[in-house]
Amino acid sequence: MKIAVFSTSQYDEDFLSQHNTGHQIVFFKASLSEESAVLAAGFDAVCIFVNDIMNKQVLDKLYQSGLKLVVLRCAGFNNVDVDYADQLKVPVLRVPAYSPEAVAEHAMALILTLNRKTHKAYNRVREGNFSLEKLMGINLNQRKVAVIGTGHIGQAFCRILKGFGCHIKAHDPFPSAEMRELGVEYGTLDATLQDVDIISLHCPLTVDTQYLINADRLQMIKPGTMLINTSRGGLVDTKAIISALKSGLIGSLGLDVYEQESGFFFHDFSELIIQDEQLSQLISFPNVLITGHQGFLTQEAMTEIAKVTFDNIDAFEAGSPLVNRVEIPH
Ligand code: NAI
Repeated sequence: MKIAVFSTSQYDEDFLSQHNTGHQIVFFKASLSEESAVLAAGFDAVCIFVNDIMNKQVLDKLYQSGLKLVVLRCAGFNNVDVDYADQLKVPVLRVPAYSPEAVAEHAMALILTLNRKTHKAYNRVREGNFSLEKLMGINLNQRKVAVIGTGHIGQAFCRILKGFGCHIKAHDPFPSAEMRELGVEYGTLDATLQDVDIISLHCPLTVDTQYLINADRLQMIKPGTMLINTSRGGLVDTKAIISALKSGLIGSLGLDVYEQESGFFFHDFSELIIQDEQLSQLISFPNVLITGHQGFLTQEAMTEIAKVTFDNIDAFEAGSPLVNRVEIPH
């Protein structure tokens, strides 16, 4: 099949080329949008990532120029109008679980860095400053952590937390028996968020979870709570988070995703002015750590993404069952 691959970095090209099962693939560094959709004219399939836009308008344009299949190189699909793709009879396939540990370990990296301030210590020591002032952390052992969403990533994260000796509270509409056995205590969302030291988000972005962390919910949490979001930016109301950081309700914030990340993340803005007041403000806070959506970026995850992407394409071409088709919630 002829496949247009959008939003590619060198690592995408390397891993996809290595695992290509014989398809004609063309890499585009550009993100997919209404403007760039023309690049995929005449291709059978498009392969997209988290910040590519696959709305009704883009689908219409691509469908008219021969689109038969959409393959996502990721698990989340909030950027695709799956309902409309279904009406066009264009299957949307994804990589549901390429390496839950990659994202779970990154969430723990954010916690450890924010807590023990290793990023600050590194810079201090490089300048010959061995002072320990303001580097105080807490023990994670015996601390309470709220995990919102215990799917693939949430469960991997709970297993890591268990190793640190944390007490784990969780909320998920579908609690896991295996996690209960591990000692995870399930409750309502509001009950789970209260009286914990750390909250970590691992649920998908849907109409129900948009702004799950908002001004009202922030009033319920223990002052000084650490908030970690490695899921999707839209889960938190950034404006409310900034207020909560200023008032001290949120003690520290670790983000791998940001509400308005598209257009910034995956690009080099080091010589440019960041035209986003909220992002600039967050970057300036001493208790905020932001990484540019790199939770997935491990060798194991990239290998799995490439393999499953081509399995998906091969299954479509062969008319085999599409096991990784995105199901539309009706
Ligand atoms: P998953 O589908 O295995 O698990 C999601 C869990 O969230 C399910 O157990 C589901 O029941 C639960 N859930 C749904 N609605 C909920 C709600 N209202 N409250 C609490 N829980 C709810 O997905 P997986 O693989 O664990 O990924 C989770 C999210 O992580 C993805 O949707 C994606 O947005 C994000 N992600 C981020 C990456 C990164 O690089 N930072 C990479 C991969 C995924």
